[in-house]
This record gives sequence, structure tokens and C-alpha cells, in this order.
Amino acid sequence: MASKKTGILIGGSGLIGGTIVNYYKNHYPNAVDIRAPSSKKLSIREENDIRRYLKEVKPNFIINAAMANLGSGAQLAFEVNYQGPVNLARAANSLKIPYIHISSSATLPSGENLQEEDTLPISPKLSNYAKSKLMAETTLKLMAEQEGLDYTCVRLAIVYGAHDHKIQGFHRLFFSIADESMPVLFTKKNTLHSYSNARKLPHFIRHILENRGEFSNKTYHFVDKNPVDLATLILTIKSYLHLNQPKEIYVPYWIANSGRNGLNILLRILRRIGLKATLPPELMFLDSFYKPQTLSSDRLKNSSFIDPMPEESIFTRLPELVVYYLTRWSHENLISTFNENLEIERPVEQYFMRNPQQLINETHARGIGPFSDMLED
Ligand SMILES: NC(=O)c1ccc[n+]([C@@H]2O[C@H](COP(=O)([O-])OP(=O)(O)OC[C@H]3O[C@@H](n4cnc5c(N)ncnc54)[C@H](OP(=O)(O)O)[C@@H]3O)[C@@H](O)[C@H]2O)c1
Repeated sequence: MASKKTGILIGGSGLIGGTIVNYYKNHYPNAVDIRAPSSKKLSIREENDIRRYLKEVKPNFIINAAMANLGSGAQLAFEVNYQGPVNLARAANSLKIPYIHISSSATLPSGENLQEEDTLPISPKLSNYAKSKLMAETTLKLMAEQEGLDYTCVRLAIVYGAHDHKIQGFHRLFFSIADESMPVLFTKKNTLHSYSNARKLPHFIRHILENRGEFSNKTYHFVDKNPVDLATLILTIKSYLHLNQPKEIYVPYWIANSGRNGLNILLRILRRIGLKATLPPELMFLDSFYKPQTLSSDRLKNSSFIDPMPEESIFTRLPELVVYYLTRWSHENLISTFNENLEIERPVEQYFMRNPQQLINETHARGIGPFSDMLED
């Protein structure tokens, strides 16, 4: 029997990291010991923490799914999104083990069918998040070319999945609809974006760790094959929730942007008199609501990775995510508008009636072997 491997995952309390940890713990408890130290135990802002922890644990691989909060200032973004990943990669290289780096489509411009190489130029004007993620991608590539680092960069677009405790990205948009704070549509017709499915990602991570020869020193767009129109998605969520808004009125960009600029001026004044005030996260991404960004998935499709749930998309996952997040947010008193008796068609019922093969595929992908934690030695 192959010996048990040890993997270190940074960012285990987050949406992406948590999903990866759960996957390994549920499916491969006997094959992989996955350690996910909290940021208190191992802060990647501290080079010494990284060196001490990795020397002690001597892992077989490192996965970095940490990020500084989206609205973070320059120092934090630099340390967590750039310096930390570089130091983790340096440590991985010293131990001669693979380093898996999670990156973001924030490193790409807007546009359609973007290839892995189509990154933005590094410029002072970029947001702290985009700049620091782009800087990390740049240095990691160089470390592979010049220092022999074995790494893979997995670039995600807009992520959907359960356990987003911080309510960011897609879940923030969903929250604004559920909270009825989006009266009209802040987008224009046919604005397509790529989406990444959090629960498929761990399957890919495991596959690339098992097949280093093929995946080493490459970047992959890990996105669903079909991009999604933002307005269609918003209106689908609205109809699931039986809400009257947002109304199907498309607010032109110049109006939305002048509203944001006005708010920015107000916030600057508030900050000057000593109050802590930042732009709501949904407004930070206003531009992207009006511009398409679709990532090519050709490299992923042409690789040896086989999608374990090919039928799954954000639309097929929505009913389950709606129930999950609404229950959670209403229990946390974050929203008051949720009707607990709302009849939302559950995905299992939906598939059982219309697409039983999908349920079979999903069950097989989740595993049909004996429960490993019940096996007697
Ligand atoms: N969510 C998306 O829509 C999306 C889209 C594209 C790409 N991504 C990428 O996916 C990755 C994970 O994102 P996510 O959405 O899962 O983020 P998240 O939910 O905000 O989680 C971030 C994680 O980073 C950890 N962290 C922060 N500072 C740290 C430090 N100094 N040392 C160690 N850990 C630290 C946090 O730990 P604490 O809670 O203890 O601080 C948390 O576990 C990031 O690389 C991000 O760029 C995400």
C-alpha cells in the first residue's frame, strides 16, 4: 500500500480552502493527511512562520488558497497575496515538493475567450487585489523558469459554492438580491462572465498533484465551459426567491458610475474626519458588471482531467445554494425577507424526475467504494 502523504493547505477557513480540506478529509482520509493551519498558527505574512512550520511538518505538497480581504490596503494585499505565496513557493522548492497556487481572473482584462497568457500588464493603477495576484503569478513563473520550482497556477473566475462565510463575489450579488437591496439591474444585456464551481475544484487539484509531469509549471483556467449572462442569472435568482425586484430595468453604466463616484467623494470626506468607511464590495466590481469576461477552458478540456460532474453549472446548483444560503443568512439575522416556507424545487427532486443519469454520475463521482473510515485494519 502507498504510504500516506501529508499536504498543507493555507486558507482552510475560506470558501475554496474549506472545500478542498473537506474533500480530502471525506474521500481520502487514509491516503492524505491534509493539514490546514489557521492564519493564527501560520500567517503567510511571516516568513519565519512559513519556514518553521514547513520544516517541522515536511509535507509532500502545498496548496495556497489564502487571500487578503478584497478591500484590504496595499500592505496587507502585498504581504498576503504576493510575498506570502512567493515565500511558500521558495519553501516548497527547498523541500522539492509541488506548490499549487490559486489565482484569479482579476489578473486578466475584460474580453471574451481569454487565454491563459492574456494577463494584464502590471500597473500601479490596478486594484490592490489584482496587482498583488498578478505580481504573484509573474514571480512564480520566473521561479519555475530560473529556480526549478514545480508549481501549477489554477486561475478561478467568479466562484460559486457553499460555505462562503465572508459573503464575497457571486454570493455578495446573491445576497443583494435576497436582501432586496438591488431595485434594478446594474448591468447591460448580454454581459457574459465565466464561473468556477468550487465543488469540482478539489477533484482537479488532486488530479494535478497525481500527474505532475503533465501539469507542472502551467496555468489553467478552471471554469465551467459555458459562460453565463449576468442579467439572466440575476433574474433566475429573483424568480427562485419569488421577489418583485430587481425590476428588469437596465441602468446605463454612466448613471451607475456617477452614483459610485458621488459615494466615493462622501467616503473620502468621512475618512478625513476620522471615520472608517469603505466602498461596499458590490460597488468595487461595478465595472465588471458592464464588461464581459470569459475565460477559455480549452487547455483544461484538452488535459487528462475528466470533469466529474459535466452536467453541473451555476444554474443546476442554484436551487441547492439558494436553500443553503437563505437558511444560513436568516438564522444569522442577516436578512429578514426570507420566507422559510418558500417552495423551492430541490435539485435532487428536479434531477430524479428529469435527468436521473446526472444523479448517477454525481454519486459515482463522490465515490462508491467502502467508507474508508469504517474499514477495519
Ligand atoms: N471567491 C471567489 O469568487 C474567488 C474568485 C477568483 C479567485 N479566487 C481565489 O481563490 C482563493 C481563495 O479565495 P476564497 O474566496 O476562498 O477566500 P476567503 O473565503 O476570503 O478565504 C481566505 C483565506 O485566506 C486566509 N488568510 C488570510 N490572511 C492570511 C494569512 N496572513 N496567513 C494565512 N492565511 C490567511 C483566511 O484565513 P483567516 O480567516 O484565518 O484570516 C482564509 O482562510 C484566493 O486565491 C482567491 O484569489 C476566489
